[in-house]
Amino acid sequence: MCGIVGYIGKRQAEPILMDCLSRLEYRGYDSSGIAVRQNDNSNNISVYKNAVRVEALKEKSPHLNGNTGIAHTRWATHGQPSLLNAHPHLDCSGRFAVVHNGIITNYQELKQQLIIEGHDIISETDTEVIPHLIEKYYKGNLEEAVKLAITVLKGSYAIVVLCKDEPKLVVAKMGSPMVIGISDCEKFIASDTPAIISYTNKVIYLEDGDVGVITENSIVITKNGEEIRREEKQVHMCKADIQKNGYVHFMIKEIHEQPRVIRDTIVDNALLTTKLTIGKDVQSLSIIACGTSYYAGLIGEYVIEELLGIPTNVSFGSEVNHRRMIFPNEVIVITQSGETADVLTSMKTMQKAGVKTLAITNVPGSTASRISDRTIYTKAGPEVSVAATKSFIAQLIALYQLTLLHPSMSPGLREQLAAELNTLPAKAEKLFDLEPRIMECARYLTQCTDVFFIGRGINYPVALEGSLKLKEIAYIHAEGYAAGELKHGPLALLCAGVPVIAIAAQDSNYEAMVTSIKEAKARGAYVIALADENDKTIDDSVDVVFKVPHTHFLLSPVLHTIVLQLLAYFTAKLRGCPIDFPRNLAKSVTVE
Ligand code: AGP
Repeated sequence: MCGIVGYIGKRQAEPILMDCLSRLEYRGYDSSGIAVRQNDNSNNISVYKNAVRVEALKEKSPHLNGNTGIAHTRWATHGQPSLLNAHPHLDCSGRFAVVHNGIITNYQELKQQLIIEGHDIISETDTEVIPHLIEKYYKGNLEEAVKLAITVLKGSYAIVVLCKDEPKLVVAKMGSPMVIGISDCEKFIASDTPAIISYTNKVIYLEDGDVGVITENSIVITKNGEEIRREEKQVHMCKADIQKNGYVHFMIKEIHEQPRVIRDTIVDNALLTTKLTIGKDVQSLSIIACGTSYYAGLIGEYVIEELLGIPTNVSFGSEVNHRRMIFPNEVIVITQSGETADVLTSMKTMQKAGVKTLAITNVPGSTASRISDRTIYTKAGPEVSVAATKSFIAQLIALYQLTLLHPSMSPGLREQLAAELNTLPAKAEKLFDLEPRIMECARYLTQCTDVFFIGRGINYPVALEGSLKLKEIAYIHAEGYAAGELKHGPLALLCAGVPVIAIAAQDSNYEAMVTSIKEAKARGAYVIALADENDKTIDDSVDVVFKVPHTHFLLSPVLHTIVLQLLAYFTAKLRGCPIDFPRNLAKSVTVE
């Protein structure tokens, strides 16, 4: 899942490409590169690339003079981050340059054939076969050569092709996302809208099978050889949404936005009509998601079963696609980016099986929102930091509202919970007062190699999410457990000083949770508890306790999660980790 951009217009392409690319680094950042078609008689393609982040690429790149170009930031799938494997990739003669996001699954056989035909393939990547195929099929018409090349490709791709001999860009899409930004006498191409929002908010979303020929004044899109029109959309996003606005990291900025995000999602989804809620005749439900969104699904499962009594199961998108699934007649998919390949593939599988899909997503115009039967948008705004925070909280709010709106909900309980939901923004705001103490506690975690998170009931998924955050941004091995499971094995890992983060919510699990805490303490663990502000007894059983404002136990995951986000953030900060762009990860996982 890389980030690709293209520009064609009257302005110098290099600074624009570098600026757009820097806004796509959440998609991959282990290497980057740029290619520009020179503005002199040669029209040669000049390339600069290396295993560096975009900032370094900008600093080191010689000035590339030209008005048409392409650029790429990489998340390695085939071949480690290196100068040779970085994009753009060229053909033997340097006439065609290609940037690609996706995976060409049959590249090995194509590569063998091209080598037999005399092509000099120099990298380990799947992508490099594409410029060589274009070179093989080129008879003076770039569009035709690209169309021929993609007929032999298998897998997923979004590609932009730059050519020495033709003043245009040709793009093709299958599986990976691509948008075209429209402005008078210049055009922008990108994997995602945040890259180009500073230049235009008028975009076209390409669909699978589309091939586009783009010049500074025209866009011609064809599909199966037929010219087609794609609707122009307006993107409601502003530059501030994708800037740090004085914060050190996007992650802490996005954590601090959560009171507003809760408010906006409540207000916006209050308009949710029953049309968008779970159908009244639904007998069972499936929820499909990945990573943090999967944990939101587990909390959704708990709330739906607790309040509606509808049997609900939650599956990893990556598991659904490779086994026989008995789908109920309604499936909810949860995906922040709306571009997670494992989720999109399962949606396409379900559509083929005639199963209706309801997508909960944060990105208008995303593929999931375009292919689902119905869509609920969370109002978290653009989330740049790779670690999901505000999008998770917004997903919980959307799941609560979806459940409360169900016709079988008792009006009294609906009212009570809806009223309690409206108190959450202020309660979330209060949690930020805990930051100095959370920072102190994080100091202890910085020197630990193993950390355990335990919870019960609706807060077990919160333990899973807390451990995921610590893993992905602080690089500490962390495990989330249903507290009752510790004694069935993991307890063997506990010894003096090992931190156990225990979520002791005021619900029917409380007593059992205190027992689990005591079992851990008895093995010398250093117990950090999250508890209700009215809990007057927990302090004696633990080493550190963070008290969160009282709320209904079904809503408590919202407040507990924010504390764990802050704990992970400060631990990573104290360890000097690259918080917004953790190693080996990317914000939206567009490959299976
Ligand atoms: C979470 O911090 C990670 N970025 C990752 O687990 C993420 O939740 C997962 O890739 C799913 O992404 P999605 O919600 O965009 O589908």
